Amino acid sequence: MPGYHWLPDRLKTRAQSRRGRRDRLRLSRDPRGFGSGRRLSDQEVDALIQEIPERLAEYIRETGTDEIMAASIELCRFLVRWCEVRRPGRIVDLGSGITSWTLRSWRDRFSPDSTVISVDDDPEWLARSRDYSRTAGTGDVDFLLWDEFLEKHGSDRFDLVVYDFGSVRERARQMATAFDLVAPGGAIICDDIHKARIWRAARNSMWRRGWTGWSVREETLDSIGRFALLVGRPPERV
Ligand SMILES: C[S@@+](CC[C@H](N)C(=O)[O-])C[C@H]1O[C@@H](n2cnc3c(N)ncnc32)[C@H](O)[C@@H]1O
Repeated sequence: MPGYHWLPDRLKTRAQSRRGRRDRLRLSRDPRGFGSGRRLSDQEVDALIQEIPERLAEYIRETGTDEIMAASIELCRFLVRWCEVRRPGRIVDLGSGITSWTLRSWRDRFSPDSTVISVDDDPEWLARSRDYSRTAGTGDVDFLLWDEFLEKHGSDRFDLVVYDFGSVRERARQMATAFDLVAPGGAIICDDIHKARIWRAARNSMWRRGWTGWSVREETLDSIGRFALLVGRPPERV
């Protein structure tokens, strides 16, 4: 499904929220088993979804980043939908930015017992995302540099790993480490899978572990052709 970049803003919002409702239906009936979580209030979740474009614009303005480097509206919206149905307890946000605001907003509004750790390999961008998160009301704790994160949490496991981190080269290089962070029954969402190097690294990590991946291109495709891959780690058998 193409992005809605060619529509006027008013229609774009309408089309996106219609598509958002379809995404939610797909996810909650999903044969992949992502529909087991308790449904939250539609209105509250829709309010968060609708706030994303405005917050992304604000994030770009305040941090001085740009649309190409920041995560897309589509990815952020998908993260909220995924959290809505899966209710992850432990989240790691690898590649801080607007995803940090999105995941922390979901936690603050719907799942205060969940934890979100935001990580970056670049101290300057980590600081900019942390400052933005503080100003936007989602806090400035648990923003860590990659090495610091590995030292403190490298052996922890997370219900959701969002992987949108560093340069393409570095992201491919650290892919296996990111996969190792996924808890049994959890998932990793890898953005920018349209890039051959990132796709190859994700595919290799997935195949080596025997995990299953699903393209979420339809849900996450943005106006500049970026999209994500969702990979689930099977639950442990008892
Ligand atoms: C795709 S970006 C991360 C996007 C992030 N997840 C978000 O939600 O905005 C990948 C990396 O680029 C760096 N970065 C962000 N904005 C940048 C910019 N304008 N110029 C150079 N590097 C940037 C950060 O270190 C980040 O880890």
